[in-house]
Amino acid sequence: MNAAADAAPGRRHGLPPVPDLSRAFDVAVVGGGVIGLSAAWRLARLAMTVALCDPEPGRGASWVAAGMLAPVTELHYGEEALLALNLAAARRWDGFARDLEAVAGPVGYRRTGTLLVGADEDDRAWIEQLFDFQRQLGLEVEWLSARRARDMEQALAPGVRAGLWAPGDHQVDNRLVVSALLTALSHAGAVLVPEAVEAVSCTGGAVRGVRLSSGTEVAARAVVLAAGCHSSSIGGLPAPSLPAVRPVKGQILRLAAGRGGPPLRRAVRAVVEGSSVYLVPREDGSLVVGATVEEQGFDTTVTAGAVLELLRDARRVVPAVSEMVLDEASAGLRPGSPDNGPLVGPVASVPGLVMATGHFRNGFLLAPITADALSAVLVGTDPPPEMACFGPRRAVVPC
Ligand code: GLY
Repeated sequence: MNAAADAAPGRRHGLPPVPDLSRAFDVAVVGGGVIGLSAAWRLARLAMTVALCDPEPGRGASWVAAGMLAPVTELHYGEEALLALNLAAARRWDGFARDLEAVAGPVGYRRTGTLLVGADEDDRAWIEQLFDFQRQLGLEVEWLSARRARDMEQALAPGVRAGLWAPGDHQVDNRLVVSALLTALSHAGAVLVPEAVEAVSCTGGAVRGVRLSSGTEVAARAVVLAAGCHSSSIGGLPAPSLPAVRPVKGQILRLAAGRGGPPLRRAVRAVVEGSSVYLVPREDGSLVVGATVEEQGFDTTVTAGAVLELLRDARRVVPAVSEMVLDEASAGLRPGSPDNGPLVGPVASVPGLVMATGHFRNGFLLAPITADALSAVLVGTDPPPEMACFGPRRAVVPC
Protein backbone atom coordinates (compact mmCIF):
# COMPACT_ATOMS: atom_id res chain seq x y z
CA MET A 1 0.00 0.00 0.00
CA ASN A 2 1.28 3.44 -0.92
CA ALA A 3 0.87 5.78 2.05
CA ALA A 4 3.06 8.63 0.78
CA ALA A 5 2.21 8.76 -2.96
CA ASP A 6 4.70 10.55 -5.23
CA ALA A 7 6.97 13.58 -4.99
CA ALA A 8 5.81 17.05 -3.94
CA PRO A 9 3.91 18.63 -6.85
CA GLY A 10 5.74 21.95 -6.57
CA ARG A 11 9.04 20.37 -7.51
CA ARG A 12 7.67 19.12 -10.83
CA HIS A 13 6.20 22.24 -12.36
CA GLY A 14 9.08 24.44 -13.37
CA LEU A 15 8.74 26.90 -10.50
CA PRO A 16 12.21 28.25 -9.61
CA PRO A 17 13.58 26.51 -6.47
CA VAL A 18 15.32 29.66 -5.15
CA PRO A 19 13.05 32.62 -5.86
CA ASP A 20 14.21 36.23 -5.82
CA LEU A 21 12.56 37.68 -2.73
CA SER A 22 14.31 41.05 -2.76
CA ARG A 23 11.44 42.81 -4.55
CA ALA A 24 8.09 43.76 -3.06
CA PHE A 25 5.11 41.74 -4.28
CA ASP A 26 1.57 42.95 -4.78
CA VAL A 27 0.29 39.92 -2.87
CA ALA A 28 1.75 37.18 -0.67
CA VAL A 29 -0.50 34.12 -0.42
CA VAL A 30 0.00 32.05 2.72
CA GLY A 31 -0.88 28.43 1.97
CA GLY A 32 -0.74 26.32 -1.19
CA GLY A 33 -3.91 24.26 -0.91
CA VAL A 34 -6.57 24.49 -3.60
CA ILE A 35 -7.82 27.81 -2.20
CA GLY A 36 -4.40 29.51 -2.05
CA LEU A 37 -3.36 28.10 -5.44
CA SER A 38 -6.61 29.17 -7.15
CA ALA A 39 -6.40 32.65 -5.64
CA ALA A 40 -2.74 33.05 -6.58
CA TRP A 41 -3.43 31.94 -10.14
CA ARG A 42 -6.34 34.36 -10.51
CA LEU A 43 -4.34 37.28 -9.10
CA ALA A 44 -1.29 36.50 -11.25
CA ARG A 45 -3.53 36.46 -14.33
CA LEU A 46 -4.64 39.96 -13.37
CA ALA A 47 -0.98 40.99 -13.77
CA MET A 48 -0.36 41.25 -10.04
CA THR A 49 3.01 40.08 -8.73
CA VAL A 50 2.27 37.12 -6.47
CA ALA A 51 4.39 35.08 -4.04
CA LEU A 52 2.78 31.84 -2.85
CA CYS A 53 4.39 30.51 0.35
CA ASP A 54 4.11 26.84 1.26
CA PRO A 55 6.83 24.24 1.94
CA GLU A 56 4.73 21.54 0.27
CA PRO A 57 2.11 23.13 -1.96
CA GLY A 58 -0.83 20.92 -2.79
CA ARG A 59 0.15 18.29 -0.24
CA GLY A 60 -2.15 19.08 2.67
CA ALA A 61 -5.91 18.50 2.86
CA SER A 62 -6.22 19.20 -0.89
CA TRP A 63 -4.10 16.15 -1.71
CA VAL A 64 -6.16 13.89 0.55
CA ALA A 65 -9.58 15.16 -0.60
CA ALA A 66 -12.00 13.42 -2.98
CA GLY A 67 -12.73 16.45 -5.19
CA MET A 68 -16.51 16.22 -5.10
CA LEU A 69 -18.44 19.24 -6.40
CA ALA A 70 -21.69 18.29 -4.71
CA PRO A 71 -23.86 21.14 -3.40
CA VAL A 72 -27.09 19.09 -3.62
CA THR A 73 -26.09 15.76 -2.08
CA GLU A 74 -23.94 17.51 0.56
CA LEU A 75 -26.87 19.73 1.62
CA HIS A 76 -27.30 20.03 5.37
CA TYR A 77 -30.34 21.33 7.23
CA GLY A 78 -29.97 24.96 8.29
CA GLU A 79 -27.26 25.70 5.72
CA GLU A 80 -29.37 27.43 3.07
CA ALA A 81 -26.99 30.43 2.71
CA LEU A 82 -24.11 28.03 2.22
CA LEU A 83 -26.19 26.14 -0.35
CA ALA A 84 -26.64 29.35 -2.39
CA LEU A 85 -22.87 29.89 -2.29
CA ASN A 86 -22.18 26.26 -3.19
CA LEU A 87 -24.57 26.37 -6.15
CA ALA A 88 -22.99 29.58 -7.43
CA ALA A 89 -19.58 27.93 -6.99
CA ALA A 90 -20.65 24.83 -8.93
CA ARG A 91 -21.76 27.03 -11.85
CA ARG A 92 -18.23 28.47 -12.09
CA TRP A 93 -16.54 25.10 -12.48
CA ASP A 94 -17.17 24.70 -16.24
CA GLY A 95 -15.21 27.86 -17.00
CA PHE A 96 -12.59 27.28 -14.31
CA ALA A 97 -11.84 23.74 -15.51
CA ARG A 98 -11.77 24.87 -19.15
CA ASP A 99 -9.30 27.72 -18.42
CA LEU A 100 -7.11 25.51 -16.27
CA GLU A 101 -7.07 22.63 -18.75
CA ALA A 102 -6.15 25.04 -21.55
CA VAL A 103 -2.86 25.91 -19.83
CA ALA A 104 -2.11 22.84 -17.72
CA GLY A 105 -3.84 19.70 -19.05
CA PRO A 106 -6.66 17.52 -17.74
CA VAL A 107 -8.10 17.99 -14.25
CA GLY A 108 -10.55 15.05 -14.30
CA TYR A 109 -13.66 17.26 -14.36
CA ARG A 110 -16.47 14.72 -14.81
CA ARG A 111 -20.04 15.91 -15.26
CA THR A 112 -21.54 12.55 -14.36
CA GLY A 113 -23.86 13.46 -11.48
CA THR A 114 -24.20 11.70 -8.13
CA LEU A 115 -26.46 8.94 -6.80
CA LEU A 116 -27.42 8.87 -3.12
CA VAL A 117 -28.71 5.51 -1.88
CA GLY A 118 -29.76 4.02 1.43
CA ALA A 119 -28.68 0.62 2.77
CA ASP A 120 -31.76 -0.14 4.89
CA GLU A 121 -35.29 1.15 5.46
CA ASP A 122 -34.23 3.76 8.03
CA ASP A 123 -31.56 5.05 5.66
CA ARG A 124 -34.15 5.20 2.88
CA ALA A 125 -36.50 7.21 5.14
CA TRP A 126 -33.67 9.64 5.96
CA ILE A 127 -32.93 10.15 2.27
CA GLU A 128 -36.64 10.68 1.56
CA GLN A 129 -36.73 13.52 4.11
CA LEU A 130 -33.65 15.05 2.53
CA PHE A 131 -35.28 14.69 -0.88
CA ASP A 132 -38.37 16.60 0.36
CA PHE A 133 -36.11 19.36 1.70
CA GLN A 134 -34.17 19.52 -1.57
CA ARG A 135 -37.42 19.77 -3.52
CA GLN A 136 -38.69 22.57 -1.24
CA LEU A 137 -35.52 24.45 -2.08
CA GLY A 138 -36.11 23.93 -5.81
CA LEU A 139 -33.03 21.77 -6.32
CA GLU A 140 -32.60 19.48 -9.31
CA VAL A 141 -33.15 15.99 -7.86
CA GLU A 142 -35.02 12.90 -8.94
CA TRP A 143 -36.35 10.10 -6.70
CA LEU A 144 -35.10 6.65 -7.69
CA SER A 145 -36.63 3.27 -6.95
CA ALA A 146 -34.11 0.60 -6.00
CA ARG A 147 -34.52 -0.94 -9.45
CA ARG A 148 -33.91 2.34 -11.23
CA ALA A 149 -30.82 3.03 -9.08
CA ARG A 150 -29.42 -0.38 -10.02
CA ASP A 151 -30.23 0.24 -13.70
CA MET A 152 -28.01 3.32 -13.46
CA GLU A 153 -25.22 1.58 -11.55
CA GLN A 154 -25.27 -2.19 -11.93
CA ALA A 155 -22.64 -2.66 -9.23
CA LEU A 156 -25.06 -1.53 -6.50
CA ALA A 157 -25.90 -4.31 -4.05
CA PRO A 158 -29.27 -6.05 -4.52
CA GLY A 159 -30.24 -5.01 -0.99
CA VAL A 160 -29.80 -1.27 -1.62
CA ARG A 161 -33.01 0.66 -0.98
CA ALA A 162 -34.28 3.57 -3.01
CA GLY A 163 -32.34 6.77 -3.32
CA LEU A 164 -32.03 9.96 -5.30
CA TRP A 165 -30.24 11.25 -8.32
CA ALA A 166 -28.55 14.67 -8.39
CA PRO A 167 -27.54 15.22 -12.04
CA GLY A 168 -25.65 18.45 -11.29
CA ASP A 169 -23.31 17.13 -8.56
CA HIS A 170 -20.00 16.51 -10.32
CA GLN A 171 -16.37 15.85 -9.45
CA VAL A 172 -12.78 16.73 -10.26
CA ASP A 173 -9.61 14.76 -9.63
CA ASN A 174 -8.20 16.76 -6.71
CA ARG A 175 -4.60 15.73 -7.37
CA LEU A 176 -4.77 16.67 -11.04
CA VAL A 177 -6.28 20.03 -10.06
CA VAL A 178 -3.54 21.02 -7.61
CA SER A 179 -0.83 19.83 -9.99
CA ALA A 180 -2.44 21.79 -12.84
CA LEU A 181 -2.72 24.90 -10.67
CA LEU A 182 1.01 24.74 -9.93
CA THR A 183 1.77 24.53 -13.64
CA ALA A 184 -0.66 27.37 -14.35
CA LEU A 185 0.93 29.50 -11.63
CA SER A 186 4.31 29.06 -13.22
CA HIS A 187 2.90 30.10 -16.63
CA ALA A 188 1.29 33.15 -15.06
CA GLY A 189 4.59 34.30 -13.54
CA ALA A 190 3.81 33.73 -9.85
CA VAL A 191 6.69 32.91 -7.52
CA LEU A 192 6.56 29.81 -5.34
CA VAL A 193 8.33 30.25 -2.02
CA PRO A 194 8.88 26.71 -0.64
CA GLU A 195 8.86 27.70 3.01
CA ALA A 196 6.39 27.97 5.85
CA VAL A 197 5.18 31.39 6.96
CA GLU A 198 5.86 32.08 10.61
CA ALA A 199 4.12 35.44 10.87
CA VAL A 200 2.33 38.17 8.99
CA SER A 201 4.51 41.29 9.24
CA CYS A 202 2.77 44.56 10.06
CA THR A 203 3.82 48.19 10.44
CA GLY A 204 1.47 50.55 12.28
CA GLY A 205 -1.17 47.82 12.29
CA ALA A 206 -1.13 47.41 8.48
CA VAL A 207 0.28 44.48 6.54
CA ARG A 208 3.71 44.83 4.96
CA GLY A 209 4.39 41.18 4.05
CA VAL A 210 5.23 37.88 5.71
CA ARG A 211 8.14 36.46 7.68
CA LEU A 212 9.24 32.96 6.65
CA SER A 213 10.39 30.24 9.04
CA SER A 214 14.01 31.00 8.00
CA GLY A 215 13.51 34.60 9.18
CA THR A 216 13.46 35.99 5.61
CA GLU A 217 10.97 38.81 5.10
CA VAL A 218 8.84 38.80 1.95
CA ALA A 219 7.47 42.29 1.31
CA ALA A 220 3.91 42.50 -0.02
CA ARG A 221 1.16 45.15 -0.15
CA ALA A 222 -1.47 42.55 0.72
CA VAL A 223 -1.46 39.13 2.37
CA VAL A 224 -4.05 36.42 1.62
CA LEU A 225 -4.27 34.05 4.57
CA ALA A 226 -5.25 30.69 3.02
CA ALA A 227 -3.51 28.24 5.34
CA GLY A 228 -6.55 26.01 5.93
CA CYS A 229 -6.88 24.81 9.51
CA HIS A 230 -3.46 26.33 10.32
CA SER A 231 -4.74 29.84 9.59
CA SER A 232 -5.62 30.46 13.23
CA SER A 233 -2.08 29.79 14.46
CA ILE A 234 -0.16 32.20 12.22
CA GLY A 235 1.99 34.68 14.15
CA GLY A 236 2.10 38.47 14.05
CA LEU A 237 -1.62 39.18 14.08
CA PRO A 238 -3.77 40.49 16.93
CA ALA A 239 -5.84 37.61 18.36
CA PRO A 240 -9.26 39.07 17.40
CA SER A 241 -8.24 39.17 13.74
CA LEU A 242 -7.40 35.45 13.61
CA PRO A 243 -10.02 33.22 11.96
CA ALA A 244 -12.10 30.79 14.03
CA VAL A 245 -10.96 27.65 12.22
CA ARG A 246 -10.17 24.22 13.62
CA PRO A 247 -8.98 20.93 12.10
CA VAL A 248 -11.67 18.36 11.28
CA LYS A 249 -10.02 15.08 10.43
CA GLY A 250 -11.08 13.02 7.43
CA GLN A 251 -9.71 9.55 6.73
CA ILE A 252 -10.07 8.35 3.17
CA LEU A 253 -9.08 5.36 1.02
CA ARG A 254 -7.89 4.99 -2.56
CA LEU A 255 -8.59 1.67 -4.26
CA ALA A 256 -7.17 0.59 -7.61
CA ALA A 257 -9.23 -1.45 -10.07
CA GLY A 258 -8.89 -5.19 -9.50
CA ARG A 259 -9.57 -8.04 -11.89
CA GLY A 260 -13.20 -7.08 -12.37
CA GLY A 261 -12.37 -3.54 -13.57
CA PRO A 262 -13.90 -0.32 -12.24
CA PRO A 263 -17.27 -0.99 -10.58
CA LEU A 264 -18.86 2.48 -10.95
CA ARG A 265 -19.36 5.13 -13.60
CA ARG A 266 -20.76 7.82 -11.32
CA ALA A 267 -20.11 9.07 -7.82
CA VAL A 268 -22.24 7.17 -5.31
CA ARG A 269 -22.97 8.42 -1.83
CA ALA A 270 -24.69 6.16 0.63
CA VAL A 271 -26.23 6.20 4.07
CA VAL A 272 -25.43 2.89 5.76
CA GLU A 273 -27.18 2.39 9.10
CA GLY A 274 -27.00 6.14 9.66
CA SER A 275 -23.36 6.60 8.58
CA SER A 276 -22.33 8.39 5.41
CA VAL A 277 -19.87 7.02 2.89
CA TYR A 278 -18.99 8.10 -0.62
CA LEU A 279 -17.42 6.25 -3.55
CA VAL A 280 -15.96 8.41 -6.30
CA PRO A 281 -14.70 6.70 -9.47
CA ARG A 282 -11.76 8.17 -11.38
CA GLU A 283 -10.94 8.01 -15.10
CA ASP A 284 -8.16 5.48 -14.42
CA GLY A 285 -10.57 2.97 -12.87
CA SER A 286 -9.62 3.73 -9.29
CA LEU A 287 -12.09 4.59 -6.56
CA VAL A 288 -11.87 7.10 -3.72
CA VAL A 289 -13.80 6.01 -0.62
CA GLY A 290 -14.37 8.52 2.15
CA ALA A 291 -14.50 9.94 4.59
CA THR A 292 -14.60 10.10 8.35
CA VAL A 293 -15.45 13.37 10.12
CA GLU A 294 -13.52 13.52 13.39
CA GLU A 295 -12.71 16.19 15.96
CA GLN A 296 -9.21 14.98 16.87
CA GLY A 297 -7.16 18.17 16.72
CA PHE A 298 -4.09 18.05 14.48
CA ASP A 299 -3.89 14.25 14.38
CA THR A 300 -3.40 12.74 10.90
CA THR A 301 -2.88 9.11 11.84
CA VAL A 302 -4.79 6.46 9.89
CA THR A 303 -6.65 4.12 12.20
CA ALA A 304 -7.60 0.48 11.63
CA GLY A 305 -11.13 1.21 12.82
CA ALA A 306 -11.72 3.94 10.25
CA VAL A 307 -10.37 1.78 7.40
CA LEU A 308 -12.60 -1.08 8.56
CA GLU A 309 -15.72 1.09 8.74
CA LEU A 310 -15.15 2.78 5.38
CA LEU A 311 -14.58 -0.56 3.63
CA ARG A 312 -17.48 -2.24 5.42
CA ASP A 313 -19.93 0.53 4.46
CA ALA A 314 -18.59 0.81 0.91
CA ARG A 315 -18.86 -2.95 0.39
CA ARG A 316 -22.40 -2.97 1.75
CA VAL A 317 -23.54 -0.79 -1.16
CA VAL A 318 -21.01 -1.88 -3.82
CA PRO A 319 -19.89 -5.47 -3.12
CA ALA A 320 -17.27 -5.38 -5.92
CA VAL A 321 -15.20 -3.11 -3.68
CA SER A 322 -13.89 -6.35 -2.15
CA GLU A 323 -12.09 -7.19 -5.40
CA MET A 324 -10.26 -3.87 -5.59
CA VAL A 325 -6.69 -3.22 -4.47
CA LEU A 326 -6.24 -1.12 -1.33
CA ASP A 327 -3.71 1.38 -2.63
CA GLU A 328 -3.65 4.16 -0.09
CA ALA A 329 -5.17 5.16 3.23
CA SER A 330 -4.63 8.75 4.31
CA ALA A 331 -5.98 11.44 6.59
CA GLY A 332 -6.42 15.16 5.99
CA LEU A 333 -7.55 18.09 8.08
CA ARG A 334 -10.50 20.08 6.80
CA PRO A 335 -10.60 23.70 7.97
CA GLY A 336 -13.84 23.74 9.96
CA SER A 337 -15.55 27.03 10.90
CA PRO A 338 -18.22 27.65 13.55
CA ASP A 339 -21.09 27.43 11.01
CA ASN A 340 -19.38 25.28 8.34
CA GLY A 341 -19.17 28.20 5.89
CA PRO A 342 -15.95 29.80 4.62
CA LEU A 343 -14.36 32.94 6.07
CA VAL A 344 -13.50 35.10 3.06
CA GLY A 345 -12.77 38.79 2.70
CA PRO A 346 -10.76 41.73 4.02
CA VAL A 347 -10.05 41.98 7.73
CA ALA A 348 -11.08 45.53 8.60
CA SER A 349 -8.83 45.80 11.66
CA VAL A 350 -5.65 44.88 9.73
CA PRO A 351 -5.43 46.84 6.45
CA GLY A 352 -4.00 44.66 3.69
CA LEU A 353 -4.98 41.34 5.30
CA VAL A 354 -7.48 39.22 3.37
CA MET A 355 -8.87 35.97 4.78
CA ALA A 356 -9.61 32.84 2.70
CA THR A 357 -10.13 29.87 4.98
CA GLY A 358 -12.82 27.78 6.72
CA HIS A 359 -13.94 25.99 3.55
CA PHE A 360 -14.54 22.78 5.54
CA ARG A 361 -16.08 20.09 3.26
CA ASN A 362 -16.15 22.30 0.18
CA GLY A 363 -12.62 23.41 -0.63
CA PHE A 364 -12.59 22.24 -4.24
CA LEU A 365 -16.15 23.31 -4.93
CA LEU A 366 -15.55 26.80 -3.52
CA ALA A 367 -12.08 27.43 -4.97
CA PRO A 368 -13.17 29.28 -8.14
CA ILE A 369 -15.72 31.51 -6.41
CA THR A 370 -13.27 32.24 -3.59
CA ALA A 371 -10.67 33.26 -6.16
CA ASP A 372 -13.27 35.56 -7.74
CA ALA A 373 -14.11 37.07 -4.35
CA LEU A 374 -10.46 37.67 -3.47
CA SER A 375 -9.63 39.23 -6.80
CA ALA A 376 -12.66 41.54 -6.42
CA VAL A 377 -11.42 42.60 -2.98
CA LEU A 378 -7.92 43.31 -4.24
CA VAL A 379 -8.98 45.03 -7.47
CA GLY A 380 -11.76 47.00 -5.75
CA THR A 381 -14.81 45.58 -7.55
CA ASP A 382 -17.90 43.85 -6.13
CA PRO A 383 -17.40 40.26 -4.91
CA PRO A 384 -19.95 37.59 -5.91
CA PRO A 385 -23.17 38.44 -3.98
CA GLU A 386 -23.46 34.87 -2.63
CA MET A 387 -20.23 35.49 -0.69
CA ALA A 388 -21.77 38.42 1.22
CA CYS A 389 -22.77 36.19 4.16
CA PHE A 390 -19.31 34.65 4.46
CA GLY A 391 -17.01 37.42 5.65
CA PRO A 392 -14.17 36.73 8.06
CA ARG A 393 -15.91 38.19 11.13
CA ARG A 394 -19.31 36.56 10.84
CA ALA A 395 -18.58 34.11 13.65
CA VAL A 396 -18.75 37.17 15.94
CA VAL A 397 -21.35 39.24 14.07
CA PRO A 398 -23.80 36.79 12.43
CA CYS A 399 -24.94 37.55 8.88
N1 GLY B 1 -16.63 16.89 0.88
C1 GLY B 1 -16.22 15.63 1.31
C2 GLY B 1 -15.61 15.57 2.64
O1 GLY B 1 -15.40 16.59 3.27
O2 GLY B 1 -15.33 14.48 3.09
